[in-house]
Amino acid sequence: MGVLYYLNGKVSEEEPKVSSQDRGYNFGDGIYEVIRCYDGKFFALDDHVERLFKSASLIDMNLPYSKEEIRKIITDFYKQSNNPEAAVYVQITRGATSRSHTYSRDLKPIFFMFSKPMEDKPIEFYERGFKAVTAHDGRWDICQAKTVSLLYNVLAKQKAKDAGCREALFIRGNGEVTEGGSSNLFIVRDGILKSRPADNRILSGITRKHVIELAGKNKIPYRNEIFYKEDLMAASEVFITGTTSEVTPIVEIDGKKVGTGKTGEITDKLIHAYHDMTRNL
Ligand SMILES: Cc1ncc(COP(=O)(O)O)c(C=O)c1O
Repeated sequence: MGVLYYLNGKVSEEEPKVSSQDRGYNFGDGIYEVIRCYDGKFFALDDHVERLFKSASLIDMNLPYSKEEIRKIITDFYKQSNNPEAAVYVQITRGATSRSHTYSRDLKPIFFMFSKPMEDKPIEFYERGFKAVTAHDGRWDICQAKTVSLLYNVLAKQKAKDAGCREALFIRGNGEVTEGGSSNLFIVRDGILKSRPADNRILSGITRKHVIELAGKNKIPYRNEIFYKEDLMAASEVFITGTTSEVTPIVEIDGKKVGTGKTGEITDKLIHAYHDMTRNL
């Protein structure tokens, strides 16, 4: 099937319309999740529902559903979509009301979803490696909330696209490396795999969490550690992770080769481990 939509309880093949007074439209006032389905099964649905509630709480949004209810709404919708390989986009905005910065806590949220067919990319697709650019990270202090206010990420990713690159890697004013425009970032230095601790400067990625677990299972030494642009540029391996990008090697940053300029050994091991895990749910 093609794309299937859901808006406040109504499922349709036609794209539904929302109010021009939707606070998501006017203020970027909403939260979202993207959940991957492999062969008709959700990967890490509970993690996504958990994070959705965390994001809601971080932006003072009351969700009038229990976690179990949300889980059921998403699952029932996906079952109707008949897309074995899919990405399910879930968005909840604070609601529609006459435009004002402040809000009433009684607003009825607008619950929107779509299920989009995904191509199941062969492992070779990832193994070849991709280019990235660095970009200034001037985002706010609540990057752990997955909100639809993505303009900063949009501009950084456009910078990457214009430079013929796959991702923009964010660097804060003090040189700290945070994450990608729509991904988390890992480096390997001196044989140790590192990523920034999941603080308020990054989204606590679900793929990141599972990749860290896979590193443990594969006896790859791992450290949660803040690192800097010079560490990134001197790393022997770099990769990004995300629900739809899975484990994607970065082999060139700002026109400079990462390590040998080819996908490294640790990255390759994790690409395979992640692929095996998600294709055997
Ligand atoms: C800014 C940002 N960081 C990290 C991620 C990766 O998160 P996940 O692995 O949960 O998809 C995303 C995914 O969209 C993102 O937008």
